[in-house]
Formats: sequence, C-alpha cells, structure tokens
Amino acid sequence: MKKILVFNGSPKGDKSDTMHITRAFLDGIKDAGNYDIHIVNVIDKHIEFCRGCFSCMRNGGTCIHDDDMRDVLTEIKEGNLIIFSYPLYAYGMPASIKVLVDRLLPLTSMEMREVDGRYRHVGQTDLSKLKFMMICGCGFPNSRKNFEPAVSQFKLLFPGDSTIITVPECPMFNAPEAASVTGPRLELVKKAGKEYAMTDSISIDLLENIISPMIPEDVYAKIVNGG
Ligand SMILES: Cc1cc2nc3c(=O)[nH]c(=O)nc-3n(C[C@H](O)[C@H](O)[C@H](O)COP(=O)(O)O)c2cc1C
Repeated sequence: MKKILVFNGSPKGDKSDTMHITRAFLDGIKDAGNYDIHIVNVIDKHIEFCRGCFSCMRNGGTCIHDDDMRDVLTEIKEGNLIIFSYPLYAYGMPASIKVLVDRLLPLTSMEMREVDGRYRHVGQTDLSKLKFMMICGCGFPNSRKNFEPAVSQFKLLFPGDSTIITVPECPMFNAPEAASVTGPRLELVKKAGKEYAMTDSISIDLLENIISPMIPEDVYAKIVNGG
C-alpha cells in the first residue's frame, strides 16, 4: 500500500485553515483507493535546530541530535508521497517547516554535482520513488507578489516530481459563514486529490480554479478590515 506522509506546519495544528484544503485533497485521494496516510502536526514534535556541523553528511546519515527527527526521516524513506501543508509566513514557510527541512540534511552527502545548470548535493539515500507536494494557504487575497518566494524555494528544494497548490483568502475555510463559497472550492480540491491519485498530476484548468481567489480581492479585504 502506498504511504502518504503529511507535515502540517501550522502552529494551529488541527485548527489550521490550510489543513481544510489538505484534508479535502486527502479525501479525494482516498476515493481513488487505499492509502496509508499519516498526518504529523510538526508543532507537536521535538525537532532541534540544525547545528550546521555537517557530520550527518559525512557519517552515513546520522544527526548529532537524538530527537523526533529520527522517526520523521525513517518515515520519509518509507513514503511514496510527502505533503508539506503550511501557511504562508513572511512570504515563505513557517519556522516549524523550515526547521524540519533543514534537518533533511542527513538524506544528502557532501558531494556536489551540476544538475540542470546548478550545483546540488547528491543524495546518500535513494528517494527516487518519492513525490513531493506543497499545499500552502495565505491570508492576503492576492497570490502574485506573495507566494513567489515560497514556490521558488519549494521548486529548488524538491525539483522533479513536485506539485504545488497555493490558496489565497485561506482564513475563509475556518469561517462557517463562508461555507457557501468554501464548500464548492473544497469539492474542487477533492476532485484534484482523486485526479492526482489516478494520474500523478492535476490538470491545469482545475489547478487554476483552485488557486484563484474565492471572492473578489477588494470584497475580501473589506470584510477582513471590518466592513
Ligand atoms: C507570522 C505570520 C506571517 C504571515 N505572513 C503572511 C504573508 O506573508 N502573506 C500572506 O498572505 N499571509 C500571511 N500570513 C497569514 C496566514 O498565512 C494566514 O492567516 C493563513 O490562513 C494561516 O493558515 P493556518 O491556519 O493553516 O496556519 C501570516 C500570518 C502570520 C501569523
């Protein structure tokens, strides 16, 4: 059975706005077949900062820290799809996810190789069967001049087989009074999950519908501003 590992990077844990999208996506995936899905609330894990000593890259992949990252790395190696679900913070990933991503260093070695016009460390673990996905919600109504740094970072971190879903106006998912617009959007996300499970991709039209604002930007801003 294929394994899906979800890293929920919201400090709000299960109450995350973004996780509404992620759960809908997983519902779609589950419609397509049986999957072993494990959701990790990163905020509840003990993950120390990377110390930058590079010992893990020289010694076969063991970090000096003995914390929850050991289990996380084991789960990543056994996974088929890794979903990073997180809110946009300061145009990038929140600290919980950044700490986790830094601590992925044991998966790579010191050796640098030129790939696609840039240098990268080559892996000391074979992750070729792994697919990566970013699901990111944000508070502003605009995607442009907002999501770009996070999207660029994710593409550099996980080139190749990565899928990215960015959703503006995300706090609406936690507002029951907005259900008439968030409900249909979550149905689209569920459809995308099923499509992804069956084809390993999401059609461009569907993705464009999902990442567009649910209500006009100025209307959203007016509501957020109190009227
Ligand atoms: C520290 C902080 C930084 C934020 N930075 C951005 C930002 O750069 N752009 C944006 O559109 N929203 C930003 N937001 C808003 C969150 O992305 C938004 O509230 C999101 O819906 C929270 O999702 P969550 O409930 O999944 O954590 C920020 C929120 C916080 C608390």
